[in-house]
Amino acid sequence: MKLQPTSNDPRRLFLEQTRKALVSALTQGLAGEAVACQSSCIAGPRAGVVLLQVGVAAAKVLRLLSGDNAAIARQFIAWNFPGDPAVFMSGKLIRIEAPWPDALAQTQIRYRDVSHHPVGDGRWVAGLNERGTTIVLGFSDNVPHLLMGGTTGSGKTVALRNAAAQLSHQAGETALVALDGKYGAGLGILSNLPGMVGPVASDVRQATNALGWVHTELQRRYGLITAQGEAAIAHLPRIVVLFDEFQEFMEDPHVRELTRRLLAQGRAARIHAILATQHPTVEAFGENGSLKRNLVGRLALRVTDQDASRVVVGDSLPRADRLMGRGDAYAIIPGHIHRVQLLLVDEAELQLLPREEPRLRAWPEVRPADYGQEPTVHWAYNGSELAWGLIGATQMPPWGRQRLLQALEAAGLERPGSERADRLLELTRETAAVLSEAHYQLLSAESPVADEINQQELLLGMVAAANDWGRQRLRQAFEGAGLAVPGSERADRIVDLGEAALASLTQSGYRLVPHTEDETPDGNEPYDPAEVAKALIAAFNGWGRDAFVKTMAPIGNERGMQLLRFARQIRDRLAEENYQIQKTESEPE
Ligand SMILES: Nc1ncnc2c1ncn2[C@@H]1O[C@H](COP(=O)(O)OP(=O)(O)O)[C@@H](O)[C@H]1O
Ligand SMILES: [Mg+2]
Repeated sequence: MKLQPTSNDPRRLFLEQTRKALVSALTQGLAGEAVACQSSCIAGPRAGVVLLQVGVAAAKVLRLLSGDNAAIARQFIAWNFPGDPAVFMSGKLIRIEAPWPDALAQTQIRYRDVSHHPVGDGRWVAGLNERGTTIVLGFSDNVPHLLMGGTTGSGKTVALRNAAAQLSHQAGETALVALDGKYGAGLGILSNLPGMVGPVASDVRQATNALGWVHTELQRRYGLITAQGEAAIAHLPRIVVLFDEFQEFMEDPHVRELTRRLLAQGRAARIHAILATQHPTVEAFGENGSLKRNLVGRLALRVTDQDASRVVVGDSLPRADRLMGRGDAYAIIPGHIHRVQLLLVDEAELQLLPREEPRLRAWPEVRPADYGQEPTVHWAYNGSELAWGLIGATQMPPWGRQRLLQALEAAGLERPGSERADRLLELTRETAAVLSEAHYQLLSAESPVADEINQQELLLGMVAAANDWGRQRLRQAFEGAGLAVPGSERADRIVDLGEAALASLTQSGYRLVPHTEDETPDGNEPYDPAEVAKALIAAFNGWGRDAFVKTMAPIGNERGMQLLRFARQIRDRLAEENYQIQKTESEPE
């Protein structure tokens, strides 16, 4: 059902009286001269609007009507509205807007009451504008983020909940991160909605960690874009960060810095924020406010005074301090201002939504150094995870995600979400490949080595399987690579294993492709697999930093040390599992 004012709508009759009185007063010289005008009116959910087109007299009429609450003008017209009108230019029209008396106001508009435009791609139905048209909000290059400001009770939390509830139905396309400056009282009810990346962050520490995760993801996406172009992230979900009463956590320098980066850099990475606050201050958002530039999209709810209004609206008009509260809002998108009655979503409705475990059961810890001004050094994984990843990567066939998860759980480690696990697989497989190129091999002290098929053999087996080589061709390849030519039974086993490994790679979305050019290391992946592999070699050989650094391209002292320390952790952990890295015997000339 679409709510549309009809001609016998009592609000419309009410509004018509005012319009006629105004037009006749202007025609009769209320503005000092006779002003001819065209007029129309709109009966919105919370306010009535009269639009006047008066041509060159616009400035004069505007001054007359907006000066001192239009007290003078109102003596001459029947002004039945409670409270003051808002008078401003809307394009070439003078717009006179006044709230309905309570009995006429329409304050409870539900999702089911509005006509449903096709939404998706991170967009949601926000409410109805003054013409009864459904207003959809979302993100674009022009509007990468939204600032929402309004006093207590104005409807910020309800608006955020509405956005989250609808976006949770687009879980594949949109991922949600919720932070709540009111310690969970506002957004806590959103926990475990489909699409939520992790828990609702309800204190400063969790907020820092959640924003840290967002920042890591942002860097990862920039890395993908640098390496492969923008198309590389087109299929990744938009990430929408909902931050209620964010001023509560902005005292914290880390939250502030991470929020600043999210606003400044999120756009290109398809990462967006809706920031809601009851204290829109000039310091944070005014002319020189560092956050202002990236917050062009505004949702201004009722604020307490004109100063706050100027900050939230980004202009002196329209005046958000004249809004009526409880979801009465201006939605301000470049080029458009709508007076919107926002949808009402109550807790009972939210309780009915489906729920599922978020991808992350806890936000990974971030430390300030992880996003300092220095080149960032970020270990998304701890040493134990990397050790198990490496063990899995060197099994034959290499472990897939499922097997890796089992191993991590069996080792008493926290079970990572699927995306995290996939990235771990990817990282450690690359590391294993680099190790093997450098002729190192991960050996288990428990399994007999002699008969084991080694990495290089397995790789050739995979190539053989991919190319359907016969035994003869395989032998040649072994000779070419300087490897001992296997007997026929062993050759068959190598090809079988190669086939299995290939299948498992394919299943995990990998392909075996001929090596054509040097890969450029991902500029934003803090350590590349080659560095990790070299550090591991250094750790296993007991080298000090100097010997280690000699094997590397120039690397800063601190970064080098950090890398080496980390590699030692991995080594120790591997040793606990009875693994060690050894140089292989069969080294080609
Ligand atoms: N869109 C809306 N439509 C109708 N009533 C609303 C709407 N938004 C808020 N309200 C009313 O105002 C109350 C306070 O809203 P809330 O979102 O908690 O405000 P805030 O977070 O700005 O303090 C709600 O409990 C509800 O009764
Ligand atoms: Mg609130």
